[in-house]
This record gives sequence, structure tokens and C-alpha cells, in this order.
Amino acid sequence: MIFINFKTYKEGSGEKAIDLVKIIEGVSEETQIKIIPVVQATDIKEIVGGSKLEVWAQNVDLEDYGAHTGAILPEAVFEDGALGTFLNHSEKKLPDFDKLEAVVKRAKEVNLKTLIFASDVAELVKILSLKPTYAAYEPPELIGSKTTSVSQAQPELIAKAVSLSNEAGIPLIVGAGVSSARDVKKCVELGAVGVAVASDVVVANDPKKELLDLTEGFK
Ligand code: G3P
Repeated sequence: MIFINFKTYKEGSGEKAIDLVKIIEGVSEETQIKIIPVVQATDIKEIVGGSKLEVWAQNVDLEDYGAHTGAILPEAVFEDGALGTFLNHSEKKLPDFDKLEAVVKRAKEVNLKTLIFASDVAELVKILSLKPTYAAYEPPELIGSKTTSVSQAQPELIAKAVSLSNEAGIPLIVGAGVSSARDVKKCVELGAVGVAVASDVVVANDPKKELLDLTEGFK
């Protein structure tokens, strides 16, 4: 499986996000590989209405209904049709473990699936205890890299992350700089169930070509 994180790239916002989802849907149908667009909260409802794909949110907040200006409620993204949410991405890090634990509980209460990011193996051990739907190992220093992917730079750490995740019974996703079929193949060979990708697809001149290339890694 592939999670495509649209982040707040211009190419992954508003009308352009809708166009990108159409491309992703075409590739997913053609290859029969599960691809999940992870989109901005403001785009969820329209994207879900126009696509058969499972769509996820990039984040939800801890707050409940009430006087919490600006918060993104788990209930709201679920009602808009998101089936899951990323949590603790290194670009949206929770300040401490208690807050992460509380927001995971909130997401689960409203039946959102969860993917919690870990920046390193020590953090992975902690997040596995929260029993997310997926755990992700993503070293922040390699995010957005055009030259070095996590699979090239850290195969031993991916193997360690896989072993810890398998022990906990949680499927592992790997991300950071993933940009080729070779990168995907390496992650899968090491035992990951999938990858999280952003820049290689979202800001590509030809997102379809890049995405088709990534799917080759699962063959
Ligand atoms: O969530 C995945 C993302 O952070 C990876 O970014 O640009 O390295 O594929 P990128």
C-alpha cells in the first residue's frame, strides 16, 4: 500500500488536489495496489464525494465539541468521509506522549483508523504501545530528500523497526525520500507493508509516471 501525503503543497491543495486524486485513483485501479490520498482537512469532503478511494486526514486535534477555535475535530473529518488520520508526523509533532495518547484515543472513539509516525526506533517503541492501525518509521532528516531515501540510507533501522512492529502486531509503513520502485522494493523486502510518499508524487511534473514507477516496487 502507498500513502500519498499531499501536505500543504500547492499541487496538493484545492482544485489541484482533486485532479491529483483522479490520477491516483486511475493508477490504483490499473495496478490494483491500495493507494490512500492523505489530504488537507478542507479538501476531504469534496474529494470523498468524487472518488472511490479511501481518503485520510493529515491530522486531527485533541479538542472535543465546544469553544476551541481553529481545532480540527476527529468527528468532523470522519463526518466528511475520511476513514483514517495521520498523527504525530514530524511536521505536526505532538508536544508530549500524553497528548499523543489522548488524541489517539479520540480518533479511535470516532472510528478513525490511525497511522502514528515515529522519527526513530526509540519513539517507535512508545507509539507501538498505543496500538495504532499502522505505525510509520520516517526519519525527518530524509524527508523531501531528492538524493537519499530511507531505504538506501537506513536498511538496518528499517529491519529493526519491522521486527519491533511485528512483535507488537502492528503493520509498518516506511517513508522519507522514497522516490523509486527500487526504494519501495527494498522497504517491502525488509518487511514493511507499504510506504508513505509526498514530494516524489505531489510536486512531480508527471505524478502518474512517478506513481506507476513506485507501484512497480510491489511486483
Ligand atoms: O508522510 C510522508 C512524507 O513525510 C514523506 O515525504 O517528500 O520525503 O516523500 P517525502
